[in-house]
Amino acid sequence: MSVECFVTGGTGFIGQHLVAYLSAQGHKVRVLMRRAERLAALREQVASLGGNAARVFAVAGDLARSDLGLSICDRAVVRHASVVFHLGAQFAWGLSLQQSRAVNVEGAKRVALLAAEQNSRLVLIGGYMLKNDQHLQKIGIVADHPALTDWPAVYRQVGGYEGSKLEAYFATLQLMSALGGEMTVVHPATVCGHSRTGHILEGQPLMELVRNLVQGKLAAVPGTPEHWLPLVTVDYLVELVAACAFDPTMAGQELLALDDQTPNLRELLAQVAQPLGVKPPKHHVSLRLMKWLLSVPPIARFLNTDVEALDFIQTTRFDTAADEQFANRHGIAKPDIREALEHTARFVNSHWRSKRRYKRSIA
Ligand SMILES: NC(=O)c1ccc[n+]([C@@H]2O[C@H](COP(=O)([O-])OP(=O)(O)OC[C@H]3O[C@@H](n4cnc5c(N)ncnc54)[C@H](OP(=O)(O)O)[C@@H]3O)[C@@H](O)[C@H]2O)c1
Repeated sequence: MSVECFVTGGTGFIGQHLVAYLSAQGHKVRVLMRRAERLAALREQVASLGGNAARVFAVAGDLARSDLGLSICDRAVVRHASVVFHLGAQFAWGLSLQQSRAVNVEGAKRVALLAAEQNSRLVLIGGYMLKNDQHLQKIGIVADHPALTDWPAVYRQVGGYEGSKLEAYFATLQLMSALGGEMTVVHPATVCGHSRTGHILEGQPLMELVRNLVQGKLAAVPGTPEHWLPLVTVDYLVELVAACAFDPTMAGQELLALDDQTPNLRELLAQVAQPLGVKPPKHHVSLRLMKWLLSVPPIARFLNTDVEALDFIQTTRFDTAADEQFANRHGIAKPDIREALEHTARFVNSHWRSKRRYKRSIA
């Protein structure tokens, strides 16, 4: 069965893999693109990830613009989509409240409105912090009555990216419920490279972690032996996202895409260091001290780390039984996260080597 899909964030890391997967399954995929002239490059990338490039089309637009900046003609074309996948977001540290809200909150609401108007299933990509009730409570989110939340105070604590992702989730839920739209939410942990190829894009938090390790900027493991950075491989994630979209029982449901076999942070770093031939850090540094150090701009620059990134390192464990049942029901096998980490480390290493070679050749 071929279905029309509309994807925001289709040029990003998870989005490219999702577009490749959906198009390989025979679906027609329209991607919201700020720079539609880059369709040829996206198609090339999609093909290299195993997708069917001929089934991928661009829709010029921007999450930050009213009505997503769609032309009348494109709006009519998008109307045929049975499923709207919303992945697009400004994913960066150090964003202001205004910047992050304009794209991540207002953009999500615009996409929800479009999906509800045309009776498409909306598949929203949230984040696993939304499944950490203690954390939400600690930072002042009133989950039962989100309107009572002091959002600027939340943004001040966790930064623009996370604050806006949390606000966007509650705003979208409220809007879809008011409009009677059908929605499914998938909450991914930090995304690891492809389980077989290690493919990952620059700018991804895990890639930055590997780079810091290789450059000797990680002299100690942030947190305690109980701290971990929950991961999910990009291929397992996109299979779950696609399965959710076409499963009628998932309307109004949420899924946590997180591999509970992810080792603690110290072991994770050792796993990544081994194929790269670098020494992993052995000792721990408290998160409180690390945050204090990172509040000094030259240290933050030297360590190439942002205090916002530390929030994702935590001790909370999550119950993933229902999510694994869902995966089993759909025949989706969970890859070995340790092997995926090794492949990711190798991919990152060879990516930088070829980048350095290229820079030398043009110098
Ligand atoms: N990666 C993770 O570890 C992780 C974990 C949990 C949740 N998530 C969520 O998963 C989603 C995708 O993440 P990702 O890692 O794939 O991010 P990414 O690689 O940074 O991609 C972001 C995507 O959003 C698009 N975008 C940004 N601003 C836009 C705008 N104003 N209008 C239209 N499109 C815009 C980008 O398009 P351009 O090509 O034009 O820049 C790109 O396609 C996000 O919602 C993120 O919050 C990610």
